[in-house]
Amino acid sequence: MTPHHFLSIADLSERQLRACLRLAARCKRNPRLGARALEGRVLALVFQKPSVRTRVSFEVAVRQLGGSAMYLGPDDAQLGTREPIKDVARTLSRYVDGIIVRTFRHSQVEEFARYASVPVINGLSELHHPCQALADLFTMQERFGGLKGRTVSYVGDGNNVLHSLAQAAAILGLHLRVATPDGYRPNRRIWRETARRAARRGARLAWVASPQDAARGADVLYTDVWTSMGQERERAARLKAFRRFQVNRRLLSEAARGCIVMHCLPAHRGEEITEDVLESRQSVVFDQAENRLHAQKALLMMVYGGRS
Ligand code: CP
Repeated sequence: MTPHHFLSIADLSERQLRACLRLAARCKRNPRLGARALEGRVLALVFQKPSVRTRVSFEVAVRQLGGSAMYLGPDDAQLGTREPIKDVARTLSRYVDGIIVRTFRHSQVEEFARYASVPVINGLSELHHPCQALADLFTMQERFGGLKGRTVSYVGDGNNVLHSLAQAAAILGLHLRVATPDGYRPNRRIWRETARRAARRGARLAWVASPQDAARGADVLYTDVWTSMGQERERAARLKAFRRFQVNRRLLSEAARGCIVMHCLPAHRGEEITEDVLESRQSVVFDQAENRLHAQKALLMMVYGGRS
C-alpha cells in the first residue's frame, strides 16, 4: 500500500485543505477530539535542524491523539553521513508508524518518502514548510471568518515559508502580493506553477519590487527572518539587501484597517520586524504558533484516520 505522504501544500486538493482547516477548528474547540486516533501508534521526528514550535506541537499533537512520539536529533540520525537516507527510511519504517522530517534539502525529504513504507510529513525543508502554512491559513480563517477576496502581503525573503503560503493561497483563491529584494525572489519553478494554479482559481499572485506596493490595502502583512537556519554565513549580505524590507509602523500604515501581522517565528526584532509591530494588537503571531498544534492534529487525523 502506498503511504499518504505530506511533503508540500500542493499535495492537497482544495477539498482536502478546506477539510483540514475545518477539522483544525474542531480540534481547537474540543481538545479531546480524536483522543484515540493514534492509539498504539508511534511517530518518529527526525530533525536535522533546531525547532521549538514544530517539534513541541507535533509531540503534543501525537500524545493528545493517543500515540507516542520519539525525537531523533542531528546527532542521532546523521542523514546521509552515518548512513544513506534510503536505509534510515526503510529501517525506521519497520519500527514506527510515521516519520516527520526536518532537513536542509527538500530532495532529502523526497528521498525519505520514496523509500519509507509509512507516511512521511515534511517538518520543513529549504523549499517548503507546509505544516506552517496549514496553521497560517487556519489563523487567517479564524480572524476573518472567510478567506475569499482577502489580500495577503508577504514582505521579505522568498523562502520556504513563502512557497508554502503561496501554494495554500493559490488553492483557496486568496490574492497574494510579494515584495522581496531582486536577488531573493521565490523559487522560479514553484512560483510559476503556483501562479498558474492561482489564475485557475481567479486569484492574483504578484511579485512587486516595493514593500509599500505590496502592503497597500492588505488584510494580512506577513514576514519571516531574513537569515534562516543554514544561511548564517550570508548574514551581512542579507542585512544589507533586506534593509528596505522591514515590517514596521510606517509599512503597516499602508495596509487595510484591521490588517493582521503574521510571522512564523522565531523573529529577529529590529531586523525583519520591529518590536512595536510584533507586540502590537494587530500581531497574531502567538495564535499562529498555537494553531500549529490544532492544524497538525487535524492533519494527523486525516492521514491516519482517513478523515478527508
Ligand atoms: N515556525 C517554526 O517552524 O518554528 P520552529 O523552527 O521553532 O519549529
